[in-house]
Amino acid sequence: MTDASLRVQIRPEQPGDGDGIRAVHDAAFGGPLEGRIVDDLRGSEWLIPGGSQVALDDGQIVGHLLLSRAMLVDRHGRAEPIGVIGPVGVLPQRQGRGIGAELMRAAIEVAGRHGLPLVALLGHADYYPRFGFEPARAIGVEPPRSWPDEAWLALRLPGWTAGLRGTVHYPPAFPVE
Ligand SMILES: CC(C)(COP(=O)(O)OP(=O)(O)OC[C@H]1O[C@@H](n2cnc3c(N)ncnc32)[C@H](O)[C@@H]1OP(=O)(O)O)[C@@H](O)C(=O)NCCC(=O)NCCS
Repeated sequence: MTDASLRVQIRPEQPGDGDGIRAVHDAAFGGPLEGRIVDDLRGSEWLIPGGSQVALDDGQIVGHLLLSRAMLVDRHGRAEPIGVIGPVGVLPQRQGRGIGAELMRAAIEVAGRHGLPLVALLGHADYYPRFGFEPARAIGVEPPRSWPDEAWLALRLPGWTAGLRGTVHYPPAFPVE
């Protein structure tokens, strides 16, 4: 952990954080898509309590991560709730100082607390394995569309069992299906 990340406070989103969260994603991703997903999910049944986490430095929102509920649907149509992480964004001038890692650790803790057996995400293959993520298809977790194997990742949590297989159905706010 760097000195910069020690100064940063991680906490669940509170009323009034919306503009700061949108600004982070607009800057981190260079467009409005990710911020809109967060806006669309806010208050919906797909949001996991505590799943929207912000990073604050001196009162300013400098990072945000969203953990939401998704469904893992097996070939018999049985659906099991799991978590999906995304978007994750840190202001460009604050990247590379451990803020993303702090947000990831907070989200993984929330997912475990809610008894979710698995968290999946589409992301950089060089970044997420450090948190325990592994290629998802190798453990029977299929993406909603044909995403590259190396970027489709999953983290098994204590509730995971070998029979947990299927295709992930994202919340409707995600333009993936
Ligand atoms: C990805 C992101 C959230 C990480 O946050 P962060 O605070 O910079 O991350 P940390 O400081 O905890 O970790 C930095 C590490 O992330 C890696 N990283 C950042 N962006 C990366 C990318 N596009 N591809 C691969 N690795 C990346 C850095 O190389 C660095 O690796 P190192 O520790 O081996 O040097 C942030 O860089 C970001 O907002 N990026 C733009 C938006 C984005 O791509 N979001 C993720 C979508 S999956």
